[in-house]
Amino acid sequence: MIIGIDIGSTTTKAVAVEGGKILTTVKTRAFDSVTSATGALGKMILENNFDISSIEKIIITGAGSVNINKEIFGITTHKIDEIKAIGLGGMFLAKRDPVIIANIGTGTSIIEASNERILHLGGTGVGGGTITGLSKELIKTSVFDNIIRLAEKGDLDQVDLLIGDISEKDISFLDKSATAANFGKMLDTAEKEDIAMGIMNMVFQVIGVISVFAARSRHANCVLVTGNGSRNQIGQRVLEGISRMYNIKFEFPQDAEYATAIGAALSED
Ligand SMILES: Nc1ncnc2c1ncn2[C@@H]1O[C@H](COP(=O)(O)OP(=O)(O)OP(=O)(O)O)[C@@H](O)[C@H]1O
Ligand SMILES: [Mg+2]
Repeated sequence: MIIGIDIGSTTTKAVAVEGGKILTTVKTRAFDSVTSATGALGKMILENNFDISSIEKIIITGAGSVNINKEIFGITTHKIDEIKAIGLGGMFLAKRDPVIIANIGTGTSIIEASNERILHLGGTGVGGGTITGLSKELIKTSVFDNIIRLAEKGDLDQVDLLIGDISEKDISFLDKSATAANFGKMLDTAEKEDIAMGIMNMVFQVIGVISVFAARSRHANCVLVTGNGSRNQIGQRVLEGISRMYNIKFEFPQDAEYATAIGAALSED
């Protein structure tokens, strides 16, 4: 079996792959990249009663992989470029190519992957880290579950300037509930819940719109969403709103948060 480990800026994901199938996945979070990688692997071995000798090799990727230059636990360890890993993982999850992938991690990258080539189209520093960073300052929590719980009860009308606030009629394809300016209203009556929703909405609207433009530039009508951001249900709803407006579909595959690790594990197949 081959283990793929993606040492991301926030979390570390590991997958075990054999014969093109995912056997198991684990997620960990540690202060440094070596502890993250060895911790993820150790957890996987213990939880699944894996025999260490059955691990053929380990392939690492992600921002934290630059710090690891040795084999791990005596197992042959290779490194792979993160963009390539996202592309390979995205094609595996989408079961097709070419595919446009929006990988929403701490930041966001947009990639076009096909069997011929994997192209980094661009990205934005607006991502999951923007949600936790702004929340820490504005609503005094960076605990992700708290942010989600607050946002679920939030009212966007308290923070965003909506088309309905500035116009009696729809403007072009924007109806009255569409955002004219994120945080452009910011009423004094806005509560933590409303601000949490405003942050979540802004981050996913930005990602959604740049994904749409990226997809259009490559004549695609569908974007596969990967990374931890793919699992965010409020984010999914925001992206579905963008989807209706721009007629580009967003897909949220199972195991989306493991896409990069899966791509790493599959890279030497
Ligand atoms: N339980 C959680 N713990 C930490 N972050 C979470 C959790 N649930 C969701 N998130 C969100 O996921 C983001 C991290 O996503 P992900 O693990 O895909 O990124 P990463 O791979 O570490 O980063 P990058 O790919 O940008 O280097 C966090 O910034 C946060 O917004
Ligand atoms: Mg990542």
